[in-house]
Amino acid sequence: MLSSADPKPQRVLSGIQPTGEPHLGNLLGAIRYWVEDQTLGDCYYCVVDLHGLTVPGDPAERRQGSLTMATLLLAAGLDPDTCTLFLQSQVPAHSQLAWVMECTASFGELARMTQFKDKTAKGGEQAARVGLFTYPCLMAADILAYDADRVPVGEDQRQHLELTRDLAQRFNATYGTTFVVPQAAIPRPGRGARIMNLADPTRKMSKTTDLPAGVVGLFDEPADIERKVKRAVTDTDSGPGSVRYDRESKPGVSNLLELLGTLRGEDPDRVAEGYSRYGDLKADVARAVLDAVEPIQRRFKELSAERDYVADVLATGARRANDVASATLQRAYRAVGL
Ligand code: AMP
Ligand code: TRP
Repeated sequence: MLSSADPKPQRVLSGIQPTGEPHLGNLLGAIRYWVEDQTLGDCYYCVVDLHGLTVPGDPAERRQGSLTMATLLLAAGLDPDTCTLFLQSQVPAHSQLAWVMECTASFGELARMTQFKDKTAKGGEQAARVGLFTYPCLMAADILAYDADRVPVGEDQRQHLELTRDLAQRFNATYGTTFVVPQAAIPRPGRGARIMNLADPTRKMSKTTDLPAGVVGLFDEPADIERKVKRAVTDTDSGPGSVRYDRESKPGVSNLLELLGTLRGEDPDRVAEGYSRYGDLKADVARAVLDAVEPIQRRFKELSAERDYVADVLATGARRANDVASATLQRAYRAVGL
């Protein structure tokens, strides 16, 4: 969290992919921190529709997916008078600076990215789209184009943020100080940095999943959310001391404690003190998740009827974002001799 004691407002940037249904992990690991930061920082948030192209999709669904994600972000509490919300593809400097980043990164460092390895594990690297390989260069461009000091993301993006810092430092060392070297702002352990799949707590909750029973979608019906939480995998032991925070040996219970703690603003081991039975814990988690999600769903429904408003927000956001990003691109072009 930013502090109001910070001398100058920090520049914040983050992004979310429009493909697939947003879930509780997105809300607790990222979106809620975006909402918190917006009053304290100078915040730019984008729906990264160009990154979405790395996954095949129907054009009409793609277009709708981007609008849906932007609408959801507004419903979750982003205020367009306080932060800048836009679609990545409406700001050409992102793709232009991505090329500069591709000429800064090495093949070897991109090949080490675990997200690339995970995403190509099934189909093999040979068939993988080159965009999936160079994805981290576009992400670095997203961040560096805004001189961002701070990038609020979940734990799974740590490696991409480290690469972004390396690229910024390498570029600055070669061509003179051009970019701000950003910091990853990852929730501290136990506060939503990595929410796990409820049906298999050894796997991350993810938009692309073959285990939907354990993914709480932000558009799920309340009854489905309740059912998913109540069926969450816990452990076979019971009795005193069975409800405790220990991610190694009790991943299911720990994930539930972390969910509740994140929603209540308490540490998960503290939360554990209040419970001796899994059933009681699950009932309270279900209630807390519904209390967080239902107002967002209601607001989403209202905003979905105001398509012109959302389009307006995105047009204004793109104008503001373009002003900042095109100036940084010119600086980078000048630095390299273009
Ligand atoms: P994505 O769904 O990959 O577009 O991610 C959008 C944001 O949500 C990123 O900051 C991710 O790090 C974060 N995120 C995604 N999945 C999770 C999860 N299971 N737990 C916590 N944060 C997550
Ligand atoms: N790669 C991020 C993810 O999969 C999304 C993303 C793209 C992003 N550009 C970004 C996140 C810039 C933060 C900053 O979640």
